[in-house]
Amino acid sequence: MMYSRIVGTGSYLPEKILTNHDLERMVDTSDEWIRTRTGIAERRIAADNQMASDLALNASRKAMEAAGVTAVDIDLIIVATTTPDVIFPSTACILQDKLGVRGCPVFDVQAVCSGFVYALATADMFIRAGKCRTALVVGTEIYSRILDWTDRSTCVLFGDGAGAVILTRSDQPGILSSHLHADGSHSKILAVPGSVCGGKVQGTPFVTMEGNTVFKFAIKVLEEVVYEALAENNLQVSDIDWLIPHQANIRIIVSTARKLGIPMEKVVVTLDRQGNTSAASIPLALDAAVRDGRIQSGQHVLLEGVGGGFTWGAVLIRW
Ligand code: ACO
Repeated sequence: MMYSRIVGTGSYLPEKILTNHDLERMVDTSDEWIRTRTGIAERRIAADNQMASDLALNASRKAMEAAGVTAVDIDLIIVATTTPDVIFPSTACILQDKLGVRGCPVFDVQAVCSGFVYALATADMFIRAGKCRTALVVGTEIYSRILDWTDRSTCVLFGDGAGAVILTRSDQPGILSSHLHADGSHSKILAVPGSVCGGKVQGTPFVTMEGNTVFKFAIKVLEEVVYEALAENNLQVSDIDWLIPHQANIRIIVSTARKLGIPMEKVVVTLDRQGNTSAASIPLALDAAVRDGRIQSGQHVLLEGVGGGFTWGAVLIRW
């Protein structure tokens, strides 16, 4: 059997920190409200001259260094992003050029906050089908550019950043299974509904959200997809060593863990310092837990995400 394994992780956060106290000076909010309702204390904001591909480049270089691979080894790049550098070419093409990788297939995946899970599952399938040997999978976002900074109900939630992994072919798992879902009938509850037409943006170019509906939907589908992943692998909840959830809101993370019966000591949380970085949040959290030694060889790691679309999914890994 052919499998894929993650052999290196990397991440990058822009230097500029925007705290809840900074936001108190911008909109009618408070540090206390943001912390108790979301778990977020601060988030990073990209510099004006940084694009999603620049954040991705920094994260990718760290993942490549950790994996001991160079540009010539990479034969697939998938970038998950909702905030691409430009409409086209893809951010993956721009990243490929910046890395000096040539010739291999590269493309973007648009599944909003589930984007990284979608991208990782896709790269795993490329590798298991024998179509590539060493894949770079990246989640990168600059949400600060699609937020209405006068709307307190959305601007306090998000941050900028990037995370990356190197996935290689292996005769041992690796990725045990992946589970992807979508339901486009819920597209309006979380969206950036604007489109470019005739040189103008039609509709709003900013994030719009029905917070409460998103909250309930997220908790329901995350629980379902975790049980689906466990059932496929004949595993129990107690077999999960680390849960790496999409970092949207501490109350979604705590509620999901509680419903599943997973103690919070087994849940990786980076949200407090980063906010919701959409497609970047799972690889950012994964990299933190790999680098500080929490994740050890042989452990079961479950990644799960939910996002606009609505999309959701999980990837179960034996590390
Ligand atoms: N500061 C102070 N008050 C605020 C703020 C703010 N930043 N934002 C909203 N409020 C007010 C509202 O205006 C409302 O006031 P009112 O009662 O006078 O009308 C009050 O706070 C309560 O608002 P709710 O929307 O009911 O607050 P809720 O407890 O639902 O929290 C939140 C809002 C945090 C967005 C919550 O619904 C949530 O976590 N939803 C999940 C959505 C999420 O995480 N989205 C991230 C992207 S989605 C994803 O990644 C899957």
